[in-house]
Amino acid sequence: MIGLLWEGRGMRGHCFSFMLTVLFLGTLLTTFIWYMSNDSHVEPHRLPAPKKTEKRAPSVSSDSCNDCSHVEPHRLPAPKKTEKRAPSVSSDSCNDCSHVEPDKLPPQKKTEEKAPSVSSDNCKGCSKVINKVLEHYSQTWTKQEENYQKYRSQLHTRCRGSEKAILTQANTPVGSKILYDGEKQRFRKVTLELFRTFMKESPFSNKTWDTCAVVGNGGILTNSNCGNTIDSTQFVIRCNLPPLENEFKAHVGSKTDIVTANPSSYMKKFGGLQGQRRPFVDSLQKYGNSMMLLPAFSFAFSTPPCLRALYSVEDFEIPIQPVFLNPEYIQNLTDFWRSQGVREIRLSTGLVVTSLALEICTNVHLYGFWPFSHHPHGFQPLTHHYYDDRKANYFHSMPSEFKLLLQLHSQGVLRLHLGQCGEQ
Ligand SMILES: *[C@@H]1O[C@H](CO)[C@@H](O)[C@H](O)[C@H]1NC(C)=O
Ligand SMILES: *[C@@H]1O[C@H](CO)[C@@H](O)[C@H](O)[C@H]1NC(C)=O
Repeated sequence: MIGLLWEGRGMRGHCFSFMLTVLFLGTLLTTFIWYMSNDSHVEPHRLPAPKKTEKRAPSVSSDSCNDCSHVEPHRLPAPKKTEKRAPSVSSDSCNDCSHVEPDKLPPQKKTEEKAPSVSSDNCKGCSKVINKVLEHYSQTWTKQEENYQKYRSQLHTRCRGSEKAILTQANTPVGSKILYDGEKQRFRKVTLELFRTFMKESPFSNKTWDTCAVVGNGGILTNSNCGNTIDSTQFVIRCNLPPLENEFKAHVGSKTDIVTANPSSYMKKFGGLQGQRRPFVDSLQKYGNSMMLLPAFSFAFSTPPCLRALYSVEDFEIPIQPVFLNPEYIQNLTDFWRSQGVREIRLSTGLVVTSLALEICTNVHLYGFWPFSHHPHGFQPLTHHYYDDRKANYFHSMPSEFKLLLQLHSQGVLRLHLGQCGEQ
């Protein structure tokens, strides 16, 4: 058709059809380029399903805090490898995030009248596993100073979270390279623009808090009445932007000094932060002026959504303080905990913040960390998170991260709370 036009017209027709052709080819070319770049580009809204990254991060974190993982769930490959290594694995010890009406939570009172033998049938033998776990959990707990000091000083020497847990202008100068901890050989050069977003120096250096609570999101917190106990702690660390609204407050409290934020916990819920950002920003108001810990440099695909969260906070000028986890710290922690027997390839965010707490707090208390499908005391079924109605996965054996937490508890290094508060 273009050819016909070409022949049948005069000079003007010539030009016209020539332009048509150029336009047509141009469109084709643009489409092609766009199509190609689509694959490699790391724009957040193009994120879904990057096969490459899945290959690179086979393991992903399971966590003992039920979704304190700093890897986004939809990118988590079926954890075949980790299953081999730690058959039980995880999903997480601090469990993840979305809202649920209280009436959707399973009724737990009935099961609280302890009837282990009957209810153990409900969980197809989980009571056996759980009882075995409880053998390592001493109800009476006393801090053992030497053990605590040993871990504290080792963490301080080998990982130095007090200075390096987050990226600061002091530890990451302009022009330096930030190496991603989840992708080999990938790095981001620190531009002035990026540098500007860092805190001047670490808020943890040369500071010690007396008591700290690390709060996982496990269904074990449902009806725990631990809110007041948690809130009376000097420093409270929470995982993955958890809801703290009215019906939950009595069980989880509301005080927050650090809250971690996986892109997966806010991107989907707030339209990828592509449209209005006020709903997202409003949802952060409940965390006051706490630090929002973003895993911006674990994977290249995490960087844009984390920056987007930071810019949203800056633009709306709300008090929360976004900070970036330092991938070097995560790497050093991974090496350290691996040397202590942790087998998961990637540490959960829950373990990362627990490690930080061990360095900066004299007394560390853990709540909401329980990776099993049933309650350790009454064997009532638990939801995955205290705020959702997803059933918790049934674990046949113990995730190695949780094993570590149990071990630290029994050595008097930190205290893992599994029961109701007030009863303990
Ligand atoms: C952590 O790892 C990096 C590189 O792997 C190393 O240079 C550093 O000294 C390590 N330790 C601390 C405390 O940062
Ligand atoms: C922390 O203390 C050390 C010595 O104890 C000192 O050299 C360093 O400057 C202090 N850092 C900050 C940020 O105050």
